[in-house]
Amino acid sequence: MRGLFTLQTLSTQKIQEIIDLALAFKGGKSSKKYPGKKMATLFFENSTRTQYSFQTAMINLGISVIGFNASASSVNKGETLYDTVRTFESLGMDGVVIRHSKDDYYKELENIKMPIFNGGDGAANHPTQSLLDLMTIYEEYGHFAGLKVCMIGDISHSRVAHGDLEIMKRLGMEVYISGPSEFNDGCAPYLTMDEAIEKCDVIMLLRVQFERHQEKMKMTVSEYHKLYGLTEERVNKMKKNAIIMHPAPINRGVEIADSVAECEKSRIYKQMTNGVFVRMAVISMVLDGNL
Ligand code: NCD
Repeated sequence: MRGLFTLQTLSTQKIQEIIDLALAFKGGKSSKKYPGKKMATLFFENSTRTQYSFQTAMINLGISVIGFNASASSVNKGETLYDTVRTFESLGMDGVVIRHSKDDYYKELENIKMPIFNGGDGAANHPTQSLLDLMTIYEEYGHFAGLKVCMIGDISHSRVAHGDLEIMKRLGMEVYISGPSEFNDGCAPYLTMDEAIEKCDVIMLLRVQFERHQEKMKMTVSEYHKLYGLTEERVNKMKKNAIIMHPAPINRGVEIADSVAECEKSRIYKQMTNGVFVRMAVISMVLDGNL
């Protein structure tokens, strides 16, 4: 299969290559174009950033973009994921981006020859999000080894947490989790909020993903904010050069105080900007046969 499904199968060297190319695109040092190519974004779950960032990346690369509205498609007539993707391949697409609620959905797509870019599968992987997170950290610190990061919030339902933790560990970062015990799935050592705030170079907040919950969260959102939200008071206790990240969408007043979302330590909007360059890098490497 061609494309990008998970970072787990990529070497740290390859990951650095992607980040370097993304930085070259950002710095105007690469202006690769793929005229005549066509790609589609097949999102079976809601998305603002990932979907439109992929589309922006395609436009920047001179690729024609086809959107897809799952609820107005033949999915409602019983079309399977495989048949939807096979259709786009038959239409002559040079690649598709897929987001789907099922973990590892791409394992059903082994017969597809066209490149597939994973825009998020269930609670498992979100490789381009992990890459843009890494690019943002690398721009800040110039290295990964030894940096301490804590993911705070709804860990168990988060593909971002699971994908990021795996590659961050391999890059030599010290990774921790924090937040309500009901969301602690043991994927990394646990820190209390106070420990995380005092110790970490990167505080990565996660949205409470209510749409994935089987059971109602045990506390109210205002209790959540008080116990685990990043408030101004907590920001003031962070290390001098520490930064705040969040894959977004953010819920102001829940996991992050409104006034903190755009404070001097926040890199949340920079992450979104970097997402376009990372996706340009990934698409161009796959089309060039380097990924
Ligand atoms: C995340 C996702 O969908 O996994 N968002 C994103 O892609 N930037 C996180 C979320 O929805 O909370």
